[in-house]
Amino acid sequence: ASTLGASAAEQGRYFGTAIAAGRMGESDYMNVLNREFNSITAENEMKWDALEPSRNSFNFSTADRIANHARSQGMMLRGHTLVWHSQLPDWVKNLSANDMRSAMNNHINRVMGQYRGQVHSWDVVNEAFADGSGGGRRSESPFQQKLGDGYIEEAFRTARAADPNAKLCYNDYNTDNWSHAKTQGVYRMVRDFKSRGVPIDCVGLQGHFNSGNPVPSNFQTTLQSFADLGVDVQITELDIAGSGSQQANDYRTIVQACLNVARCTGITVWGVTDKYSWRSGDTPLLFDGNYNKKQAYNTVLEVL
Ligand code: XIL
Repeated sequence: ASTLGASAAEQGRYFGTAIAAGRMGESDYMNVLNREFNSITAENEMKWDALEPSRNSFNFSTADRIANHARSQGMMLRGHTLVWHSQLPDWVKNLSANDMRSAMNNHINRVMGQYRGQVHSWDVVNEAFADGSGGGRRSESPFQQKLGDGYIEEAFRTARAADPNAKLCYNDYNTDNWSHAKTQGVYRMVRDFKSRGVPIDCVGLQGHFNSGNPVPSNFQTTLQSFADLGVDVQITELDIAGSGSQQANDYRTIVQACLNVARCTGITVWGVTDKYSWRSGDTPLLFDGNYNKKQAYNTVLEVL
């Protein structure tokens, strides 16, 4: 097929992108979005600070515009993200443990309820593990501080009841290299959840790569190892710094690894165009600032 989404669909997978609601008035942006991709993630609009800026007061209007666009185009929708220490309003951080627990569950129930039947996969918990050598939890998370390790399990149990048809994902970065302690820490949590019947369906690997965090040669091993626990894997926020053949080859490594793993069900790039990338200086995406296809685009389409 001649587009990313259609080619991935032929392989039983999706190829998505993150979008920003504020760019939806730009025709070139929308043309490339509608032509190339068959799944959408809201880049910021479904985060806690956007949806529930004050306690139990929800504002879905901007996120709904993204969800409605996906529906009108017959695209899939990824949910990002329910429980995360970042882009979290201050009012949550200041709650007592009991109040934080009920606020977390309320947030999950209300947001998943709003998009029930539309979101194929939710990032239930995002970035709960620490970088570095220990493979442990991220200590600066208010959820970790007030509720302890058990908040992740509780979030997944609440999420399962809130939308039994959505795939429930744990999502993180720097979990691409199989030999990193952080990857092993997440692996042990997923293994524990599966062994105890905690509802988890997928692991999202964000896939933000640059010279400090290069594409690892063991990436396929990481995907297959998680999949062997009985969960799907998804590449959820892919962007790779660089240009030319280096960047194209790095994209090839990632996309080919996903295709080689039966339970790798889809790939999302973290933006449509380099012009609006959260890491614009890195030119990490598949279309340049003028919406021209880059070498990396052609390589990905060839691999798919
Ligand atoms: C980023 C967005 O791209 C930026 O616009 C925003 O300012 C900060 O968040 N990991 C995640 C994403 O899970 O939500 C982050 O998105 C990038 C890192």
